[in-house]
Amino acid sequence: MMKEVVEKLEEIVEKDFILTKKELIESYLFDETSIPVRPKPTLNCIVVKPENSEQISRILKLANEKRIPVYPRGGGTGLVGGAVPTKDGIVISLERMKRIEVDRENLIAVAEAGVTLGELLKVVEEAGLSFPPHPGDEGAQIGGLVACNAGGARAVKHGVMRNFVKGIEVVLPTGEILNLGGKLLKNNMGYNLMHLILGSEGTLGIITKAVIRLCPKAEYTLTLVLPFNSRHEALSTVPTILTKGISPLALEYVEKELMEKSAMHLGEKWNIEGKVFLVVILSGTQNEVYNEAERINQICSEKGGLEVYVAERQDEQNTILKIRSNIYTALKEESADIFDTTVPPSNIGKLADMIDKIAEKYSAYIPVYGHAADGNLHAHVMKKDIDKYEKIKSEIYEATINLGGVITGEHGIGKIRVKELYKFMSPKSIELMIGIKKLFDPNNILNPGNVLSIDENQALRTEQ
Ligand code: LAC
Ligand code: ZN
Repeated sequence: MMKEVVEKLEEIVEKDFILTKKELIESYLFDETSIPVRPKPTLNCIVVKPENSEQISRILKLANEKRIPVYPRGGGTGLVGGAVPTKDGIVISLERMKRIEVDRENLIAVAEAGVTLGELLKVVEEAGLSFPPHPGDEGAQIGGLVACNAGGARAVKHGVMRNFVKGIEVVLPTGEILNLGGKLLKNNMGYNLMHLILGSEGTLGIITKAVIRLCPKAEYTLTLVLPFNSRHEALSTVPTILTKGISPLALEYVEKELMEKSAMHLGEKWNIEGKVFLVVILSGTQNEVYNEAERINQICSEKGGLEVYVAERQDEQNTILKIRSNIYTALKEESADIFDTTVPPSNIGKLADMIDKIAEKYSAYIPVYGHAADGNLHAHVMKKDIDKYEKIKSEIYEATINLGGVITGEHGIGKIRVKELYKFMSPKSIELMIGIKKLFDPNNILNPGNVLSIDENQALRTEQ
């Protein structure tokens, strides 16, 4: 069977870009999901690296005709097993699709799926423009960032990927190529199919190109580090900052131990005194930024915070963000799973208190950090507490839902949160999602088992 498929694929893509040997496909079988929870990959798959959307269209037509599962793959930085091929089939890696152009007059970049975030940021900066969000690891690729509607540390002021994508080219599981949206700031032509595909985690189509909104050159920025003595104190300061009309580029919550660990991992140092911190990045004109910094300083001392540390030099600001961004990598070895529960921002302090209670109840160490102003907290269950994993997860999820939140604000459902999606989403919503999936992918060939479990759901329904 596989031999026959390889022969057909060789009619579409050059031989050199079709991999079948174990040692060559190994690095395409995993993403960044922690080992204890990551899905088991099949070893029986073919990795194909097409160079354009026409080739992808032909591969999908073949797969659809032969009912072969297809797994799209970007930078492999996902945390919920979205890119892991779990059934024998084809992995389509977008890594060779790297064309990118900047349209300065329209403040737009058009990037193919395989362009990395790091490459986009570089090209945009060279064009004298900026791409304000920082939706994750710089090795992540545009296709994945768009398909997963990535968030990241700088979503407070400008939003997540969805707010920056104005158009996409997408190849449907049945092989048709669609161009949706464009270099447009207004577009009300029919149902918004593009926004349905954004965040569908590679289950409705393979995104091959994105039209991305840019901004004028980056403004003046200042990074403040606000030290506090407790999680509660720090997090209850967040709504106060936001309701005073301050709109930071980023407002992150971190803990000393985690920053030290991440700094060490990077060969840097974290010397700021304090137990836990809010890291605030301000942007605007120099006057605006210093004015906001002054107000934050005032709020911090009113809320019991310690002396605010101010980073002005760009390299120092970059280092702080880099240390923050690498906490996950630094914790990965010891971590069993990371959550990305999200509540209305005013409830972030309550969520942290609930997590503290759960940690106490199970005598577990639950490190917490995250995008405080987005109401988005990352709590880890560590490997040493793996025996309590299911209970801790379920209690954190229940607490989040009770606070008006969602179980994922960032990392998505992937293959490891499907059970919880079914638990916390209304049956009617699940039914509509399955209907949409079937309309796009009648034979369920594209990333089966991701987000939705079509077969399982049918079983669930007969049980009722
Ligand atoms: C972060 C990733 C794990 O915020 O979402 O560091
Ligand atoms: Zn995050």
